[in-house]
Amino acid sequence: MNTNGTTDTSDGTGTTDTSDSTDVWDEAAATFDDEPDHGLRDPVVRAAWADRLDGWLPAEPGAVLDLGCGTGSLSLLAAERGHRVTGIDSAPRMLERARHKLAGRDAEFRLGNAAAPPVPPGAYDVVLVRHVLWTLPGPEDVLRHWLTLLRPAGRLVLIEGVWGELNPVGIPAGTLLDTLAPLVREVRHTPLSQDARLWGGPVRDERYAVVALS
Ligand SMILES: C[S@@+](CC[C@H](N)C(=O)[O-])C[C@H]1O[C@@H](n2cnc3c(N)ncnc32)[C@H](O)[C@@H]1O
Repeated sequence: MNTNGTTDTSDGTGTTDTSDSTDVWDEAAATFDDEPDHGLRDPVVRAAWADRLDGWLPAEPGAVLDLGCGTGSLSLLAAERGHRVTGIDSAPRMLERARHKLAGRDAEFRLGNAAAPPVPPGAYDVVLVRHVLWTLPGPEDVLRHWLTLLRPAGRLVLIEGVWGELNPVGIPAGTLLDTLAPLVREVRHTPLSQDARLWGGPVRDERYAVVALS
C-alpha cells in the first residue's frame, strides 16, 4: 500500500475501476488506520490535521459531505468542529469503521460512488475529499458534479498529491488548479509536503490541499 493509503489497484493511468477496487478497500479497512495520517492516533498528527481543517472549513457549523470517507478520520474532526457530516464510501467495511468512530455524533454514512454520490444537490456547505479524486475517471466532470452539491458560497476542500517516484500516481497541483480555475470563483492552494507533522514523518512527494470557493 502506498503512503496515501492507495493500493496497486491503479492501472497506472490515474484511474481505478470502482467495482474492482471495492474488495481491495474492504480488505484494507482493518489496518487502514495504522498509517499515521489515516488513523490520526498520534496526538501530534491529529493536531496538525485539526489545525489545517480549522483553516479550510467554514467557522460556522454547516453540512459537510466527506466523499470516499474511508474510516471517517476527517469526518470525525469535522464533527468535532460542530459540522453535520455525511460520509460516502463504496467499501462497506470502511463504512462500518466510520460509523463506529462517529457513533453518537451528528453524522451519517452511506454506501455510494464518490463520483455520483446518493445525496441531494445544493445541500452542502463543504464537499471534503482526501486522496480519492485522483482515482476517479474523468476528474473534471466529477468536479463539476461536486460543485452542484454545494449550497451558494459553498466550497470544495480537496486534499490530493502525487505519490511514488518510479511510477508516480495522483494529480499534480497545477493540473487540479487549472481544471478548477474556470469552474469556481476562487481557488486556494496550500502545499503540505513540508509539514511532516501531517504525515507522521518527512515526505518527499507532492502533497497539497486546494480550497475552491464556488
Ligand atoms: C485513500 S482512502 C481515503 C479515505 C479518507 N478519505 C481519508 O482520507 O482517510 C480512499 C477511500 O476512498 C474509497 N473509494 C475509492 N473509490 C471510491 C468511489 N468511486 N466511491 C466511493 N468511495 C471510493 C475507498 O473505499 C477508501 O475508503
